[in-house]
Amino acid sequence: MSKGKLEKFEELTAFPNSLELTDFQDARSQKPKGRWHSDIFENENPIVLELACGKGTYTLELARRNPDKNFVGVDIKGDRIWKGAKQALEEGLNNVRFLRIYIDHLDEYFAPDEVDDIWITFPDPYPRYSDRNNRLSGPKFLKIYQRVLKEEGAIYFKTDSDELFSFTRESVAKSGCKVHRIVENIYQECPNDELLTIQTHYEARYLQEGRSISFIKFSLPSEEISWELD
Ligand SMILES: C[S@@+](CC[C@H](N)C(=O)[O-])C[C@H]1O[C@@H](n2cnc3c(N)ncnc32)[C@H](O)[C@@H]1O
Repeated sequence: MSKGKLEKFEELTAFPNSLELTDFQDARSQKPKGRWHSDIFENENPIVLELACGKGTYTLELARRNPDKNFVGVDIKGDRIWKGAKQALEEGLNNVRFLRIYIDHLDEYFAPDEVDDIWITFPDPYPRYSDRNNRLSGPKFLKIYQRVLKEEGAIYFKTDSDELFSFTRESVAKSGCKVHRIVENIYQECPNDELLTIQTHYEARYLQEGRSISFIKFSLPSEEISWELD
């Protein structure tokens, strides 16, 4: 029988490669901000985040392919993170950590310029107008990423949602971001691209449903992003 959510939560708190929101609720518990290189990874290698990582497919696969980089999967759902964290421990992937927090507070956990690149994989599309501020590619979140990502860092974004993809392109344009690459339909346009065809848990499901997967790579402007959603 598979483990229940509570059992996974308990195990996750004991995993040495996972940091939990609850670890920092005691005022004496120091958040990892500014300490990822020195105390957590104990090296100076670049740090790459996977936001909305779920089970952390990109975190794990990129870590296997790039032992000279560090990877942090970020999500709020502990039972999903548990899966990735367990797999990383079993494989001895020392360059992987998971952080269970709301991405809305990312800048409380990373210092300015501490992050080299960001992947955002299949974030919830939040189609309702009233939920639009939760979309991880909206101006609210781009401003948060500006506080932690190096100026030369890139954001790699994958989605199955046409609506979220056009919203993202608009948000990126309005924010003055530089677009490096756009792929409307990965499996039609570049089915042999080794980086873009790593399949996450949700992606595999969407592909079975016949949905197309889009991708955009962009970097943030050096000027502060100031606009907001209406
Ligand atoms: C559709 S799932 C995708 C998971 C994984 N990337 C995949 O493709 O299999 C979206 C994930 O985003 C996470 N998420 C959405 N908004 C979040 C936020 N503000 N902070 C933390 N996690 C968030 C959810 O918990 C969920 O695990």
